[in-house]
Amino acid sequence: MSYNLLKGKKGIIFGALDERSIAWITALRCHEEGAQIVLTNAPVAMRMGEINKLAEKISAPVIPCDVTSNEDMQNLIAKSMEHFGGSFDFVLHSVGMSLNMRKGKSYTEIDYGFNQKTLDISATSLHRLLATCWKNDALNEWGSVVALTYIAAQRVFPDYSEMADAKALLESITRSFGYHYALKKKVRVNTISQSPTRTTAGSGVKGFDGFISYAEKMSPLGNADAEACANYVASLFSDLTKYVTMQNLFHDGGFSTTGVTQSVIEQMEK
Ligand SMILES: NC(=O)c1ccc[n+]([C@@H]2O[C@H](COP(=O)([O-])OP(=O)(O)OC[C@H]3O[C@@H](n4cnc5c(N)ncnc54)[C@H](O)[C@@H]3O)[C@@H](O)[C@H]2O)c1
Repeated sequence: MSYNLLKGKKGIIFGALDERSIAWITALRCHEEGAQIVLTNAPVAMRMGEINKLAEKISAPVIPCDVTSNEDMQNLIAKSMEHFGGSFDFVLHSVGMSLNMRKGKSYTEIDYGFNQKTLDISATSLHRLLATCWKNDALNEWGSVVALTYIAAQRVFPDYSEMADAKALLESITRSFGYHYALKKKVRVNTISQSPTRTTAGSGVKGFDGFISYAEKMSPLGNADAEACANYVASLFSDLTKYVTMQNLFHDGGFSTTGVTQSVIEQMEK
């Protein structure tokens, strides 16, 4: 059901890899709410060609951008402004990757070269994105930028490894840049801390099945799925949430403030 929440709004969505991606589902939802969208992903991810199916469905151009490249980022923002005929209203940063996890290196033995790349892709890229928008005056007043994060930034989930540090940095950049952008242009910057969700990035975490069912049992409302996340993102892009900024917003069915649940107690008593 559409509420026309984003009628007349324009924005960029990073990170739609396949139809399970949170970004993919969010792009569909924002389109349904009336938004015009530019899609982007790393050139290497786009080679699989899946993103073109989404682009066709929502009549969006696809502009490649490796988020670790200043040049790609500048090109993306400039081309998006050309496409939209000027500045735009929202951006979804839905990007994450851990090289050490991918190479099977445990947290206590990480390779620092890989680690730098992980931090650059998963966290510093938000700064690069905001700084490029700032330099090009690309975001409209009351614009809204959302990045996706995970509760491992606050609490230890051992198998989340170096991504926990990346998410902590991502959340810090959200606050720090959010301050400056609020003063400059009333632009809002927030992170959504999402429940574990079955996607390519999600399934890359060791022991993901146990992880997701534990979270399900520990959340009074159950895990929030990707569709629910897309709804929440759309609300943050809308004019109904204008004074929300510099926040880490838990979207996790109550997991983050639950100590224990009856379901977990019963499991322990078995
Ligand atoms: N799935 C979960 O359980 C979960 C939970 C909380 C937060 N998140 C976060 O949600 C976001 C989206 O992940 P997802 O679960 O939809 O998985 P996904 O694998 O579909 O999306 C991750 C995206 O990052 C992109 N990416 C990687 N390196 C890039 C680069 N150098 N330049 C540009 N793009 C690059 C990938 O191509 C991919 O599209 C991530 O930040 C992830 O950490 C996921």
